[in-house]
Parts: sequence; C-alpha cells; structure tokens
Amino acid sequence: MIQLFHVFKSYDGENMVLKDINMIVEKGEFVFLTGVSGAGKTTLLKMLFLEEKPSRGQILIHNKNISRLSSNSIPFLRRNIGVVFQDFKLIEYRTVFENIAITLEILDLPRKVINQKVINILKLVGLEHRKNHLPKKLSGGEQQRVAIARALVNDPAILLADEPTGNLDPQITIEIMKLFEKANNNGTTILIATHDSSLMERYKKRVLHIEDGRVF
Ligand SMILES: Nc1ncnc2c1ncn2[C@@H]1O[C@H](COP(=O)(O)OP(=O)(O)OP(=O)(O)O)[C@@H](O)[C@H]1O
Ligand SMILES: [Mg+2]
Repeated sequence: MIQLFHVFKSYDGENMVLKDINMIVEKGEFVFLTGVSGAGKTTLLKMLFLEEKPSRGQILIHNKNISRLSSNSIPFLRRNIGVVFQDFKLIEYRTVFENIAITLEILDLPRKVINQKVINILKLVGLEHRKNHLPKKLSGGEQQRVAIARALVNDPAILLADEPTGNLDPQITIEIMKLFEKANNNGTTILIATHDSSLMERYKKRVLHIEDGRVF
C-alpha cells in the first residue's frame, strides 16, 4: 500500500531532515507516526501526498512509484487519499458544508448524493449545526473536525492525518478516534502523525518513531 525505500529529504540541500527511511504500511493497517517537534512527521506525510518530493529514494503507493506520476495523474492519486493537515487548510470564504462538499464535487457525484454524504459526516463529527458557518467563526477544535470530515467524506483508501486530535478535548478525541477506527474497519489504511503519548497508550496500534531523521 505505502512503501518507502531509502528515502532522504533535505529542504536546503544541506541538512537532511529524513535519512534513509525504509518502511511499509500494509493495506488496512492503522499506524501512528511519532517523534519530537521538528523530527519530520509532517515532511513524511507531505511526501506521501506529493506536496514535497523526496531528495532521494522511492515512494510507492498502490505499487506505483509516485515520483514517476505525470502531473495529470496526481489528482487521481489524491482522490484516494484523505488528508487532515496540521493547519487544517480550510477555504476561508466557503462555509463548513462547502469545504467538505469540495471533495465530492470533483468526483462529479449527483448533488443529492453530495448533500446526503456531507450531512452524514457532519453529524458524525458533531457539527451539523455549524454547516452554514465560515471557518473563522469556529473554534480551533471545530475547524479541526471540519478538516477531518472533509478527509473522510469520500471513504478514501488512505487517510493521512497530521496531529488530528491536537486541539480537541478528551471527549471529542474519543469520538474522532472512533471515526478513524470505523473508517479503518471499512478498509481505510490510516497513518496518524502525533506526539500525544496518551493517545498511543490508549489505542494500541503500530508506532513508527522518527528520531535523528530515521524511522524505527
Ligand atoms: N518548507 C520547509 N522549508 C525548509 N525547512 C522545512 C520546511 N518544512 C519543514 N522544514 C524543516 O524540516 C524539519 C522537520 O519539520 P516537520 O514539520 O516535518 O516536523 P514535525 O515532526 O512535523 O514537527 P511538529 O511536531 O512540530 O509538527 C524541521 O527542522 C523544519 O524546520
Ligand atoms: Mg508537523
């Protein structure tokens, strides 16, 4: 599903943020990616989503070498990957509903189906009452849940989530983890970057550690 072979990443050509990363995440796995601030968690997720390129090495997703994808096929890969960005990346002039619907609009689904799916996921993240609000009118935790809803609404094959529970209180964290586990039970492969050790203690999943640019 996700394979990295001898992946190196430097932003400036001098300092190696990631060094010789070799890892495999199998289809259907639920994996935590951890490491101190600045370890390279976001960098690794960005490479999987083709937002950053590795300086060296190969990344395969669904057995395809993603650095060899033509620019027209990148959107097709991304359709199968839901992403929760660390800074959410919500579109500020669109409502909560519209921010989530975008994921489905690019798939050309009928309007009725889109509306139903968006309302369903909004209910699941407890934000139906906020559907017509603009993101800036929401709290940090609410914005985070919109980002999570947008990533999951399309039942992606892979979910990449960067500190998805960082702004959430314990009760909502439990609800969101339930959503991730449900998606995982339905076949979504999940990779969550977090430095929340209580989360990793509570949910016994495989943990990949990044330390000194290497993954253990
Ligand atoms: N766009 C960039 N340009 C230059 N350096 C960058 C860039 N993005 C990240 N870095 C550097 O790469 C290193 C890893 O950063 P990254 O954001 O991947 O860490 P992280 O593990 O996600 O940290 P955090 O837990 O704080 O989110 C840091 O030293 C950071 O300064
Ligand atoms: Mg980060």
